[in-house]
Amino acid sequence: MAATSLPIGTSPAYPAGFPLPDIYDRVRRHIPAIEWPALADDVAAILALKKTRNAVILAHNYQAPEIFHTVADIVGDSLALAREAVTVDADVIVLAGVHFMAETAKLLNPGKTVLIPDMRAGCSLADSITAADVRGLREKYPGVPIVTYVNTSAAVKAESDLCCTSGNAVDVVRSLNAPRVLMIPDEFLAQNVQALVPEVEILTWAGHCEVHEQFTPADIREVRESYPGVTVIAHPECPPDVVAEADFSGSTAMMMNFVTEKRPRQVVLVTECSMGDNIAAANPDIEFIKPCNMCPHMKRMSLKNIRHALETLTHEVTVDPALTDRARLAVERMLAVKPR
Ligand code: 13P
Ligand code: SF4
Repeated sequence: MAATSLPIGTSPAYPAGFPLPDIYDRVRRHIPAIEWPALADDVAAILALKKTRNAVILAHNYQAPEIFHTVADIVGDSLALAREAVTVDADVIVLAGVHFMAETAKLLNPGKTVLIPDMRAGCSLADSITAADVRGLREKYPGVPIVTYVNTSAAVKAESDLCCTSGNAVDVVRSLNAPRVLMIPDEFLAQNVQALVPEVEILTWAGHCEVHEQFTPADIREVRESYPGVTVIAHPECPPDVVAEADFSGSTAMMMNFVTEKRPRQVVLVTECSMGDNIAAANPDIEFIKPCNMCPHMKRMSLKNIRHALETLTHEVTVDPALTDRARLAVERMLAVKPR
C-alpha cells in the first residue's frame, strides 16, 4: 500500500519488524512503505555515525523529505544555515545543500571539518560571476558598495563589501545608507529588492537561478484560473513579473512562516519542489498545488551519499587561506545587520 494514501494524524500499525516506525511516520506521505526498509538502513547508519563522528547535519529547505525529516539536525534557509553554522557544537558539519552553503559554513567555522556529500552540487548563480568580474565592477563604479548574494564563491565574497541572502537583502541595502548599491549576481533578486527600496538605485549583474527563472506570469495566471482563491507565494529569485503576480514573496524560511501563520486553504509555492513536501507533513489541512521546479544541484544530496560522507569524512570543503579573512568579513558584516 502506498504510504501517501494514509491520512496524516492516524497511527497505522506497521508490520512486525518494520524499521524505525516513528521516523517513517514523518515521511509516510512521500515515501511508499515498501521503499522504506532500504532507506531506513541508511537513516539508522547516519544516526549512529553522527554520534561517533560528533557530527551535525545542516540541511537546506530544498532537501528531499527523506533527508529533511529524518537525519537533519538543523534545517532552514541560507541565512538560518549561516547563522546556525556559527553556534554549532560539533567536530564535523555535513552540509546537505549546495557548495556555496558548505563554503559559508567553513568560513564561519575554520577549525571544523565541513563536508559536502557531492562536490558537484553547484548553483547557476554562483557560476555566473567571478572575482575578476567583481574587481571590474569596483573599477567601473568607484565608491559604490558591493552587496553579494550569499549564492557565490568565497573568491567573489572576498571582493565584496558584504553579503546578503533573500531573507535579509532589503535590510542589508537599507543598512548601507548609500544612494547607489551594486547587488550581484542575481538580477531578479536585485530588481525585486529595488521595488521595495525605491530610494536607493540598485545596479546589478545578469546572473539567474536556473530553477526560478523558468517561472512565468502565465504559469501563475493559469493556476489562479484553475484554483480560484489560491494563495501564491514566490521566491524573490523569480523574475519581477512573476513576483508581481504573487500574494507574497520571501526567502524559503519566510515562505514557510507565511504558510504556517496565515494557513491558506490552498497554496502554490513558486519555487523548488521539495519546499511544499517539507511543509506539507506539519500542515495536513493545507493543500499544496504544483507548479514547482527541481534544483538539480540540491537533488545531488541523498541518504546514501550523506552516509558515505560520514563514513569516509569526504568531501571536505576548504577555502583558500588567502581569501578566508576577507570572505568571512563579508559574511560577518551581513550577520551583524539588524532586521528593521
Ligand atoms: P533561501 O536563502 O531563500 O533559502 O534560498 C536559497 C536558494 O538557493 C534559493 O534558490
Ligand atoms: Fe542555485 Fe537556484 Fe539551485 Fe538555489 S535553486 S541552489 S539559486 S540553482
